[in-house]
Amino acid sequence: MPSYTIRMLVLGLESSCDDCSAAVVEETAAGPVLKSLVRESQDAIHGPFGGVVPELAAREHLLQVRAVMAEAVAQAGIGLKDLDRIAVTRGPGLVGSLLATFSASKALAWQEGIPWVGVHHLLGHLNAARFSAPDLPFPALVLLVSGGHTHLYLAKDWTSLQLLQKTRDDAAGEAFDKAARMLNLGYPGGPVVDACARTANKAADPFTPPKFRDGKASWSFSGLKTAVKLRVERNPRLAAAGADDSDVQGLCRSLQEAISTWLLKPVPALAEEHGARSLVISGGVACNSRLRADAAVLAARAGLTLAIPEPRLCTDNGAMIAAAGALLEPDTEPWIQNADADLKLGA
Ligand code: KG4
Ligand code: ZN
Repeated sequence: MPSYTIRMLVLGLESSCDDCSAAVVEETAAGPVLKSLVRESQDAIHGPFGGVVPELAAREHLLQVRAVMAEAVAQAGIGLKDLDRIAVTRGPGLVGSLLATFSASKALAWQEGIPWVGVHHLLGHLNAARFSAPDLPFPALVLLVSGGHTHLYLAKDWTSLQLLQKTRDDAAGEAFDKAARMLNLGYPGGPVVDACARTANKAADPFTPPKFRDGKASWSFSGLKTAVKLRVERNPRLAAAGADDSDVQGLCRSLQEAISTWLLKPVPALAEEHGARSLVISGGVACNSRLRADAAVLAARAGLTLAIPEPRLCTDNGAMIAAAGALLEPDTEPWIQNADADLKLGA
């Protein structure tokens, strides 16, 4: 017999960018339990362009969404009738992409008479941490780092995020993707830079952190892109040398070291200022091995409980949307709801 009481089965759907994902999550008194997770990646489609092409992403989602939903339900060993709730990303994201799962979820909810809830994408990333840390002590500092976000929030619980600081320009994930593109390492850049950095015998010269004249707490990653470009211009061999080259590996190591160090720098002071008891890191960049290792050292030193989801739950996925949707009130009139590319938190 399980030691928890079954509360509900939630189907979570996510298609805000270039991943089409569905998951079934059983919300229990002990926290969410993953029953199935399906994700169709579009990396092969966007790879040749070095970034996501919105129109292609939207069209591909339309082709993928029905099979992805059906597969998640089948893998969970349940039928549609067993679902207690459907949760879907309402925004922010690429509107054409969002609409694929958003519309499909409404149709399914209508057809089966299942309660439905729209979820903010970033609340999803926060709730990805609930799978491994359901009893996380709050308040928590929440670092959300992906291809579109580099934001630090204060959370008083699993459903609230208050912005503390963010990037002024590029997201950290973009820095990985653009650097990998200049080095011709492939797309998405994060995983290849990470793998390359891990094989490096030594780091290249360190990157200089940006200085802000206005003194405002924030990050900036666009300078890194220029710095990598300058190094490649000075040493054009780097652009064609590939992942086995020791200079490329050293450059990746320095880049990763800079991004990890800069991302974590404000954490100790902000934790102290806000009385934070824990640190959550989520979003695709939270897969990064160096960031995960550095965060563990920092959290131990600062006395913070650290929660970083397992890598497949850090990148965009339906499970995090189901976990967040389980904690929200279902919408009484899903039929009049729409996806919102610029959805604000708390809206
Ligand atoms: O959360 P996500 O899947 O999608 C967005 O909402 O953007 O994040 C994708 C980003 C990409 O920029 C990708 O390069 C980065 O996450 N990423 C990584 C790693 N794995 C994925 N960045 C650094 N190291 C990794 N291991
Ligand atoms: Zn995301």
